[in-house]
Amino acid sequence: MISQEEILSGLKTKLFGQKIFTFDSIDSTNDCGKVLSANGQPEGSLIISDYQTKGHGRFQRDWVSEPGKNLLFSIILKPVIDEKKLHLLTFFIANSIAEVVEKMFPLKLMAKWPNDLLINEKKFCGILLESVVTQKIDSIICGIGINVNQTIFHESVLNATSLKRELHKEIDRLQFLKAILEKLDEKYESFLSDPDSEIEAWKDRDILKGKTVSVYFNQNSFSGQVIEIDAAGYLVIRTKGNKRIKFYSGDVSLRK
Ligand code: ATP
Ligand code: BTN
Repeated sequence: MISQEEILSGLKTKLFGQKIFTFDSIDSTNDCGKVLSANGQPEGSLIISDYQTKGHGRFQRDWVSEPGKNLLFSIILKPVIDEKKLHLLTFFIANSIAEVVEKMFPLKLMAKWPNDLLINEKKFCGILLESVVTQKIDSIICGIGINVNQTIFHESVLNATSLKRELHKEIDRLQFLKAILEKLDEKYESFLSDPDSEIEAWKDRDILKGKTVSVYFNQNSFSGQVIEIDAAGYLVIRTKGNKRIKFYSGDVSLRK
């Protein structure tokens, strides 16, 4: 297990990871983060576990990860920004992680709207934002699952990859985690003052542009060609009937 002391040793952050909760095993670091946040734990608190018994993505879909091989963590944030821009936190986190990976390793990362990072068209990282609401949105729990040293994936997990699978060598999880925390910390204030700037950075990595996709939203399925990620960070497609549809959320699959 990665310990609190190891993470804190030499960690160059003001906020991210300044308070740390580590676990060998937990239901979900996001669920734990919600409780800790409701109990007053501060912004920047990091919850990290070697294993999750109920790790999840959106719609409570399982996030499946072998013990001790990957990075499974959540960060409590209390961003002071317009609520309409909160979804851009996902872009901020994804862009930051992609920058770190590309600086540390000879890899090119792509982004799949709304919340995935891919390497060679396979899913390497998933991000899940969940809000803790009292009177108003009190905090956002940012859950991050990154495949680091796992090389074989459960049959329920289609199309996944990890750093080790791509690079054929074991990766130091601790150094990688610290680099991510430091990058997030370095960029957080500029994100808060200009959240829209993350959209351009995301678009540079967008794997969907021009592709034919199916988007599932509210129990309906829409097919079409992706026109763009628009100025608000939403996905815009054009259907065969030449209708332009904009999605602020949804499940996207690429059509062959
Ligand atoms: P998709 O990968 O289908 O675009 P999504 O980003 O919409 O999914 P969620 O709906 O939040 O993701 O659910 C998480 C999904 O991630 C699960 O359905 C599962 O297919 C996939 N998954 C689970 N564990 C892993 C993993 N370790 N690596 C990559 N993908 C995983
Ligand atoms: C996705 O793929 O859409 C999001 C997956 C998010 C998984 C991470 S793992 C750490 C944190 N705890 C959870 O239960 N989920 C997130």
